[in-house]
Amino acid sequence: MFKNKKEILNAPFVQDMCRATANMYRQGWDERNGGNISYMLDEKDVAEYLDVTKVIREIPTGFDAKALAGKYFIVTGTGKYFKNVEIDPENNLGIVRISADGSKAELLWGYSDGGKFTSEFPAHMMSHIQRLAVDPNHRIVMHSHPTYTIAMNAVCPIDEKDFTHKLWQSNTEAIVVFPDGVGVLPCMVCGTNEIGEATAEKMKNFRLVVWSNHGIYGTGKDMDEAFGLIETVEKTAQIYMLALGHTLNVIPDETLKALADRFSVHPLDGVLSV
Ligand code: 13P
Ligand code: ZN
Repeated sequence: MFKNKKEILNAPFVQDMCRATANMYRQGWDERNGGNISYMLDEKDVAEYLDVTKVIREIPTGFDAKALAGKYFIVTGTGKYFKNVEIDPENNLGIVRISADGSKAELLWGYSDGGKFTSEFPAHMMSHIQRLAVDPNHRIVMHSHPTYTIAMNAVCPIDEKDFTHKLWQSNTEAIVVFPDGVGVLPCMVCGTNEIGEATAEKMKNFRLVVWSNHGIYGTGKDMDEAFGLIETVEKTAQIYMLALGHTLNVIPDETLKALADRFSVHPLDGVLSV
């Protein structure tokens, strides 16, 4: 009856996951199993490739995900290496649907060695809930460990307005790409519901959230938006760190304001002094 389903490995959403994880690995952001991605899918797109009535197994979510009941996600597996996703998508990725009561993820494809979704599933799902509330086109939550962004946490106060300002001052692209700024959390224990709740709280206002001494979250309507946000923060953090201790010139607030005006973006309130 489902003989005519298309080959799942050719699905654009599987290919997107393979490309994004490979690019992130090659950027040097995602060592070993570092980083994770979740991508919300439409049922009609999944149903072109899979029999959505066929649940392989159920995996407890570990938190109340009822707000996402019936929603479909393709998610990287816990302990899986980004460099390996493109080689073996079916083992390193999984497609799940959140159960009606929000307590389980129904596995429809993937995690073929018996694995499960990322340990940061709570942070991802809670972030999806918040970002969808702000932007109905939201689809992607991407977590990564980019080097210079983490290095900035060692030399900057844990203060999101100060962190945002330092980035904006270092590279004219920064205020244009993320005028809404970067949320910053202190160093917390990862893989917990607590860090998930704290991240989601920041996601009410930010598309980007830094986990101090750990990494960053980027979100967006597609892979390019989430990747592009993280990429621009990391490039800017690299400039900041390369110049640290030698800095003679930063972009003045007047110029930052003029850049925001020129590109018709509203800078996060309370950062610029003009
Ligand atoms: P997972 O292997 O569980 O995805 O964890 C990687 C990570 O980045 C933890 O924050
Ligand atoms: Zn991490």
